[in-house]
Order: sequence, then structure tokens, then C-alpha cells
Amino acid sequence: MTKQPLADFQWLEGRRFHNIPSSSYLLPNDIDEVDRLQLQHFILRYAIQGNFRAPLDKSKVRTVLDVGCGPGTWTMEMANEFPDATITGIDMSAMFPTTIIPENCQFLQHNIQHPFPFPDNSFDFVYQRLLVAGLTPDDWKMVMSELERITKPGGWIELVEIDGVGGNNGPHMSKIWEWLNMAFAARGVDTGILTKPGLVPMMQEANMVNVSQEVLRLPTGNHGGKIGILLKENEQAFWSAITPAVIHTAGVDVDEFEDAVQEAETEMEVYKSYHIFYIAIGQKRDTASSMLQPQPQPQHHSHHDYAVAV
Ligand SMILES: C[S@@+](CC[C@H](N)C(=O)[O-])C[C@H]1O[C@@H](n2cnc3c(N)ncnc32)[C@H](O)[C@@H]1O
Repeated sequence: MTKQPLADFQWLEGRRFHNIPSSSYLLPNDIDEVDRLQLQHFILRYAIQGNFRAPLDKSKVRTVLDVGCGPGTWTMEMANEFPDATITGIDMSAMFPTTIIPENCQFLQHNIQHPFPFPDNSFDFVYQRLLVAGLTPDDWKMVMSELERITKPGGWIELVEIDGVGGNNGPHMSKIWEWLNMAFAARGVDTGILTKPGLVPMMQEANMVNVSQEVLRLPTGNHGGKIGILLKENEQAFWSAITPAVIHTAGVDVDEFEDAVQEAETEMEVYKSYHIFYIAIGQKRDTASSMLQPQPQPQHHSHHDYAVAV
């Protein structure tokens, strides 16, 4: 009997998901999720007033990789921002555009649980944003070492993640986070890895140098002005996207979840809830230049609250 290839997608509760058994990722890859990821991209770009934090020398960057690029919004913006570079986006779900893309931009379907399809020392800049819900601790180890391998000596690696608990939560919001983490844990994902050990030690463990991290606290709700309103919209879309997983993977009662979501919308205003984002940067060791000039290794951690914009 011939083995049937796996279908590309599976549907649950009216949402479309990947169909890769080894992957822990629990969020959909349909058009509604594309909308949410685009909104989230614009929120993050607005919050840091740019597309990245790494101190890139624009005149020298020729190759950029966006790992887990989703709809490729960041990838395509970077292609415009770096017209002399080639920007590559990879994702296990082909939710990126295939037509009408900048000339210097390309997309590739690849599951990063497997070795990356690039030779050593390929990229000047490697960027990975919001993959925490898709990687087990073992995946993280492998991915970190791959990120380091494919970056050019002296090139930069930037990781952006959202933590799995938020801040200033009311009781319903806390319950929602707990259920989400139950669903993640059922698939071997531990969002706590972002604080224990944290991105900085994980990057150092992978031999990266000049590693530092910034913590952004972004208000969620009307109390947070423009960014708060948009982040609340993103949060509502996220709750809707994660509902199938919360029901089917964590076994939470759907009515109980929906009630909590409704309560949390009011609660986030009363408690002035916020989300926490981590932006960590580090460099691949450049043996040639470090032999000439030893590089300092700052253990710098900066924290700042977002100044609420209206
Ligand atoms: C929350 S989205 C973030 C997308 C994009 N980085 C952004 O910031 O808009 C996470 C993305 O990671 C992808 N992903 C999850 N696990 C993956 C894996 N094992 N290999 C490749 N992509 C993966 C998902 O398909 C999804 O597009």
C-alpha cells in the first residue's frame, strides 16, 4: 500500500492549522491569523520606532534571514529598507506571499526543528520573532545553535519574544494565562524559558557574544492610549485564535473560557494590564577581529515601560 502524503492543513473549530505532527505550535495559519500578525507587527514597530534593535551597519548588510516569518510583513519591509541586501523569510507554514514581493526578497517553507537549509556563515543579520509558542526546550537548544551557525562572524542575531504571563492581571486574565500555558505545556512548550534561564543565557550558551536584552512593557487596553487600544485588539484576536487549543489541548470548557475572556476585557482597564516583550541581541563571535581586539561582554539588561502615546 502506498503511503498517502500528509495534507498541508487541518481544520479545527473553523480555523486552519498546520499539519506537522512534530510541531508544538498551536496557533492557526489562516487569513484571520495573518491579519492579527500584521497588526502585531505594526504595534511592535511603533513601540520601538523601527524594525530592529541590533546596531547594523546598513552599508554592509547584504544577507538577512527572518526565521518563522509568518505572513512576511517584517521580511518585506526589511527588503525595502535594505535595497542592497537579499532578505529571506522561512516558515513551516507557507502563509507568506508568493507573488508581488520585492525583488530582493524570497520565502522558503522550512520547519526549523530540522537543520536550517543554509551553509555556515550565510547571514549578516538573523531575526526571529515570536516563536516561543512553537519551540520546546530541546527545539530552542537546536535552533540557537543553528542561528549561531548560519550567522556570519561578527553578524547580529536578534530575538523578540512575548512572555507567557503578562502583568497587572486581574483574576480572569490570570486564569486565561494559566489555561494558555496548560495548552502549551501539553505540547512540551514552556514559556517560562524566557525568564528561566532567559534569552541572554541561552544566547551565550550558543556561543554568541555582546548579548544584551531590553524589556518592553506595553499597556493592553484603552488605558494605554493608541498602543493599548491596538494591543487589546490583538489580544482579542489572539484569544479567538487560541480557543481551539484551549478547548481541545488543555481541555478547558468553552463557555468558561469565553466568560473569562469577556470579564478580562473589562478587567484589563481596571488593573491596567500590560504585556511584556523581550528584545535580545547578540553577535556571532568574530575570531579574526577578536584576536586583534578583545570584545567586551556586557551583561546589560535594560527595562523600560512604554511611554503611553495617544
Ligand atoms: C506568532 S507567529 C510570528 C510570525 C512573525 N515572526 C511575526 O513576528 O509576525 C509564529 C510563526 O512561527 C511559525 N513557526 C512555528 N513553529 C515553526 C517551526 N517549527 N518551523 C518554522 N516555523 C515555525 C508559525 O508558522 C508562525 O508563522
